[in-house]
Parts: sequence; C-alpha cells; structure tokens
Amino acid sequence: MQNTIQTSVKNDVQVIDCRGFDEATMHLFLAPGPNPYRDTEEFLFDCEMRADEMPRFVRRALLEFQVHSNAEGILLLKGLPIDPGLYYVPTPADASRSPEKRTYVSERCLAMVGSRLGHLVSYLQEKNGDLFQNLAPVRENETVQVSSSSKVRLQFHRETVFHPYPPDFLLLFCLRPDHDRVAETTYASIARALPLLSEEHQNLLFQPLYRTGIDYSFGSPQSGKLSDRVLPVLYGRRNDPFLNYDEDLMEATTPEATAALNALQEAIAQVYRGVKLDTGDLLCIDNRRTVHGRSSFVPRYDGRDRWLQRSFVVRDLGLSAVDRLPGERIIRTQF
Ligand SMILES: [Fe+2]
Repeated sequence: MQNTIQTSVKNDVQVIDCRGFDEATMHLFLAPGPNPYRDTEEFLFDCEMRADEMPRFVRRALLEFQVHSNAEGILLLKGLPIDPGLYYVPTPADASRSPEKRTYVSERCLAMVGSRLGHLVSYLQEKNGDLFQNLAPVRENETVQVSSSSKVRLQFHRETVFHPYPPDFLLLFCLRPDHDRVAETTYASIARALPLLSEEHQNLLFQPLYRTGIDYSFGSPQSGKLSDRVLPVLYGRRNDPFLNYDEDLMEATTPEATAALNALQEAIAQVYRGVKLDTGDLLCIDNRRTVHGRSSFVPRYDGRDRWLQRSFVVRDLGLSAVDRLPGERIIRTQF
C-alpha cells in the first residue's frame, strides 16, 4: 500500500492523517521492543531511533510544531496504530498501570512522537512517576478537579502551572473514547484570547501579581496550599506571549489584577474549542501557549470507560537535572 500521509487543517485543528501508513511504517510502531516500564531508558532510545524512520510528512509537521507551534497550540495525529487486541483489554479501574495490557504500541506512539518534540519526563507525585500514565474515570473523583473526574467540566489549566519545571508539551493518546462519545478535550490558546483583552488588562497580566495553588494530585486535597511563587500570567513576547494559567488554582494579589484575571477567564470561555478523541488519536498540546480541559461525561465503570494515556515532554532535560537522579526521567521536586 502507498503512503498517503497528509497534513490538513480542519476546524482550525492541524491534523496529521496517519490512517494511510504503509506496512513498513506500521512495523515501526508495532514491532516488539524493550519494556517501557522496566527498561525505560532503552525503550526511549529505541523509540527515538524508530521515529527517525517515520514518514517525512510526519517528521516535518512535528518539527514545525516544535519550533513554531501554531495559532491553536495543538496538533492532532489521527489514526495511529494501536495495540493488537486492545479491544479486549479493560480500561484500568483505578487509572493505575493496566496489568492486562501486555503490548506497548500506545506507549511507543507517545514516545516516538514525543521524541520529535523533546524528552519525556514524569513527576514523582503523579502515578508514581510513570512516563506513560493511564487516565480513566475513578468513582471517588467524579466531581474533583483532577484528570480522573468525569461528571464535572475539567477547568482550563496549563499542566502543573505551579511547578518550577512544567512540561513544554503534553501528549494525550486515546485508547478508548467514552461510551456516549460526548467527552471533548477542550483547549484555548493565548493567541486566540489575547485580542479580546484590553491594553490595561494585558499590562496587569504581564506583571508578577498572581499566585497559584498546588494541584490535588501533588498532595493538596483542598487545593488550599498556595505556592510561594508569585508569577505573571503572561510572559515572553508582548504580542505573542506564553501563558501561566489555571482557572481553578490561580489567584490574583490585588483587586486590579483580579479584574484582569477574570477578563482572561471570560476571553478563554469565548474562544475555546473542543476535540473528541477517538481510538488511535494522539493530541499534542503546546503547554506554554495553550490551556486545556475536558467536558463532562458519564462513566459506567464497566471496563469500557474512556481511557487515555498521557505523557509530558520538556525541551531541555538539563533544567530539571537538579531534581532528578542520574539517568532517570522522574522529576522529584518536593512541595
Ligand atoms: Fe491537564
């Protein structure tokens, strides 16, 4: 079969269509290799070497996204190969590792794509530092602001905004959509929101007037623990800035700064979009320019619930070296 890989823009989403991969390309993803959980570093190196052989269109699109990003700050790879027999593997009930999943095609998709954007890292406090994290609904967390919630909207956030070493990119691979196919991964880029903000509000958002709470998953059950870091919400280039934002955890330190933060919340509510991920879809999110969330959905806890795998990517491993053990990817910063 011929390679018919295409890149296109649909509903403002830049899409790389992987459904026409030829046999040799499929083999790159499907051929067995090192165990990602036991021989992690070997697995990552193997995936990076395999990624060198991906079709040129895919490598080119990922390179452009890595260097220049795009207006939405997201890139969707559609229809990547999936684990053989995935249909019969139940969604993990407590979002920990899946004992029934004994092949690593989804992990390979994440590592191969991630290797073109930077380096995979994890955080000690999240899923025991696994580089490939299962996201699935958990009954006890239905209404909490965490990835295992379901019946509430997951509010817009930059991933680990409170952390000194946040990921530059976030990767979400869909193994199984929700039963009703209503769950949308929502996103809003600062490029879209900025024009809706007044000059005055922009000026305030560029100043270090904002404090952020520590995530529930990092050991702050009531989201009550505030980080002592005071941050600007916007930073970088004035007309094309980066964004520190968390709808749930961020607080302003003055009334004027609060008004600007509220204006940003409204702007995001106006410009956000959503994408429904299907099995084999991998969504790359530029964590510096685009905040993300999720719409609500109704889980059934029957082993067929929505199941994503997530990985974090940094451009520069050296920044977090002080908080990592030699040869390891787990960032161990304490809070
Ligand atoms: Fe998130």
